[in-house]
Amino acid sequence: QAPLHITNEPIKSFASGSQDVINLQKSLAKYQSKVLEVPLIINGERIYQGRSVRDQVNPSNHSQVLCKFAQATKEDVDNSIKAAMSAKAKWGKMSLDERAAIFLKAADLISTKYRYDFLATTMLGQGKNVYQAEIDSIGELADFFRFNVKYAFEMYKQQPVESSPGCWNRTEYRPLEGFVYAVSPFNFTAIAGNLFGAPALLGNTVLWKPSATAILSNYLLMEIMIEAGLPAGVVNFIPGNPVQVTECILNDENFAGLHFTGSTKVFKDLCKEIYSKDHFREYPRIVGETGGKNFHLVHESASLEHTVLSTLRGAFEYQGQKCSATSRLYIPERISTEFIELLKQNLETIKTENCSDNIRGFMGPVIHEQSFKKVTSAIEEAKNDPELEIVAGGSYDSSKGFFIEPTVVKTTNPNHKFLSQEFFGPLLTYYVYPTNEFEKVCELIDKTSAYGLTGSIFAQDRDAIIYASEKLKYSAGNFYINDKSTGAVVGQQSFGGSRQSGTCDKAGSSSLLGRFVSVRSIKENF
Ligand code: ALA
Repeated sequence: QAPLHITNEPIKSFASGSQDVINLQKSLAKYQSKVLEVPLIINGERIYQGRSVRDQVNPSNHSQVLCKFAQATKEDVDNSIKAAMSAKAKWGKMSLDERAAIFLKAADLISTKYRYDFLATTMLGQGKNVYQAEIDSIGELADFFRFNVKYAFEMYKQQPVESSPGCWNRTEYRPLEGFVYAVSPFNFTAIAGNLFGAPALLGNTVLWKPSATAILSNYLLMEIMIEAGLPAGVVNFIPGNPVQVTECILNDENFAGLHFTGSTKVFKDLCKEIYSKDHFREYPRIVGETGGKNFHLVHESASLEHTVLSTLRGAFEYQGQKCSATSRLYIPERISTEFIELLKQNLETIKTENCSDNIRGFMGPVIHEQSFKKVTSAIEEAKNDPELEIVAGGSYDSSKGFFIEPTVVKTTNPNHKFLSQEFFGPLLTYYVYPTNEFEKVCELIDKTSAYGLTGSIFAQDRDAIIYASEKLKYSAGNFYINDKSTGAVVGQQSFGGSRQSGTCDKAGSSSLLGRFVSVRSIKENF
């Protein structure tokens, strides 16, 4: 087999007036011209009739229904389990070459034939501008599919180093015996692809419950997988009531793995439920990526303009709804006034808008009413708390879409809950530390990091970088030096954190793939 040459999918610029923009506008118009009926897909069969139906709306314009999607019943979930278990027999025995071909073809379909449709569905449904949709639903997704193939081949190649005379040792990489449950979030189409894709590539079969606020793009992805050749039953697409779907799944003895991205609370509840049961045939593999309270730590030696712009991007791109978004900031007193002035100047140029109308607009809406309420309640709290001061933003309006201005809050209390609680929206809290207390602030950050997802140090001083890297070892599974806390690139920085942020199995790595294989060691004597 010739070596596979895998590189990151190039990101397009969508220059105004370009053919790319014209194509994208056609796709945006297509998905707004009718309300799509989205079926369940179980064992390759599309099922819509007779199911209760929910709407997915455009978060920039919540009176606009984008699609109506079927909700899986208990019977549908049971049928998905049957489908997954029977598809396993063939899929699990297929060679990795054959399975890989399907994922490589899907990556190509995403980056060519369906590029504009995929961008349009992600932009409309999930409230992204073209750049955020491009790096997610095209770049990162195609990269996950392609790099997973590379990592899987590398893993399968690992064999015992010794065999003695008269005996041959070998290692077999089997899929898990049961099925995998993939639960995906709204904020990244790419993450959804990896949640079902990584286990499926290794021969597992999957029940995939997409987020109710990402159906349009996720359904298109499911159809692309089928066009790429994914056999019936390998991945079963079952939107539905999370509690009911989960209950059905965990009642089945063949549940063998959870691949989850979402909130810390839901993940913990799932873990508790899984551990409380005693009927599974194998110990379920549990892989989860959850919340974060990601920091930017600024040293007095930092380059000011770069740090300010990185902070603005880390905190407010995609409305602060990346799990990696910067949501707390520590600035040394000596440069704090200049820093905040520059940040405010830049923020003044940003307005919130419908980014599928203005495709390069910087700030779109938050995803839904619940999220809008969570962030705006925090803003109201900040207005009344003597330890907090809103220094930028603070306005919001949900009359048409769920729009919240990028908001910056100052706190005088280094242990304030605004520096440890996740809001998952465009709300950045900062604390000004005494310039000569850099070491102390590192300790403070570590102590207040219940989460451990991402974080950044901005400094030119090498000693400061070394100190912070060591001190904040477990405060961030993705640690950036002079770069923002968001934007991990598959194949370059695998993604995931520890503490309350997840199991740190690292999306986009062979260690993640290792969680979804059951390894058999074989010794044969001659
Ligand atoms: N992988 C995404 C990022 O790093 C969440 O921003």
